[in-house]
Amino acid sequence: MCYHSPLMSAAERIKQLEHEAISAIDSALSTAVLEDLRVKYLGRSSELTGIKKSVGSLPTEERKEVGGTANRSSRAIEEALRGRVEQLAAKEREAKLEAEAVDITLPGTPYPRGHLHPTQRIIDEVVDFFVGLGYRVAEGPEVETDYYNFTALGIPPGHPARTMQDTFFLDDGLVLRTQTSPMQIRTMLSQEPPVYVVCPGKTYRRDSDPTHSPMFHQIEGLAVDKGLTLGHLKGTLAAMARHVFGESVKIRLRPSYFQFTEPSVELDVSCFVCGGSDPACKVCKGAGWLEMLGAGMVDPGVLEEVGYDPEEYTGFAFGMGPDRMAMVKYGIPDLRLFFEGDLRFLQQF
Ligand code: PHE
Repeated sequence: MCYHSPLMSAAERIKQLEHEAISAIDSALSTAVLEDLRVKYLGRSSELTGIKKSVGSLPTEERKEVGGTANRSSRAIEEALRGRVEQLAAKEREAKLEAEAVDITLPGTPYPRGHLHPTQRIIDEVVDFFVGLGYRVAEGPEVETDYYNFTALGIPPGHPARTMQDTFFLDDGLVLRTQTSPMQIRTMLSQEPPVYVVCPGKTYRRDSDPTHSPMFHQIEGLAVDKGLTLGHLKGTLAAMARHVFGESVKIRLRPSYFQFTEPSVELDVSCFVCGGSDPACKVCKGAGWLEMLGAGMVDPGVLEEVGYDPEEYTGFAFGMGPDRMAMVKYGIPDLRLFFEGDLRFLQQF
């Protein structure tokens, strides 16, 4: 296969091709064009390759000259290609970087900030207060055994208090804990007295209306030591109420009943809005007092159940509902607002 004129020798034609290729390469403006030139001048169906293939059929005297020239030209073209590719690739890389450059000084897209939930604010305030008194924070499982949630707290199988608590019963003697009080048992079983713990967490009851939700929160408190009395309980809760609702609030204890405390009390906090002076007060509805939590001296039977000696140790326990406390403190009328995650609501606190 020879495309050159018979007037021109093969070696001359090769030289001509080489010059043509190199000048095209030198004036090429992109690596893509160089690739086309490589195919055109060195590819399998290029004229130069054709000449090389025909070398074998040339007369012996011509073979060496034509073959040698063809190889040298191929190399020269390859060399030119390599050099030009390097130049152009660097330029192309630079252009690409420039085109894709990001201006890091431009302002970003702001992401809306979240907000602490009112219940979490109350939990933080209460827990901070007790940590300041030297209490430890303990958390426990929301799926609880029947034994810890009820039996060990003086509520054995068949006890009517089990139905009163609207329990979610699960399989295998498990329940969704209806209160954080099982943490009293777990804590005492895991350590020797003295005990000072607060246990915030989620609790569950089958109840749903504007002031009750099936999932809610409680904060349990437990102190067991030598010589603790109802006076210590009252002083501790009074200080806590002042910390959360303001220095001017007063407290009162009313007799109550829980299976695991004896005596049992409920704690009321004087209305922090009207102080009891406004019969039309929206917060206390004119009562002057707000029901706040259940508490009492740990029942000696519970101490015995966990292996503490009730002759040596006494204790007090309390359980409060931070959701309700938040509703009261911030004047929120409907508990369901707590679960909507609406920033317009949350940002008000
Ligand atoms: N667990 C009780 C309830 O949910 C509250 C409580 C806690 C009462 C600790 C006394 C002592 O009603």
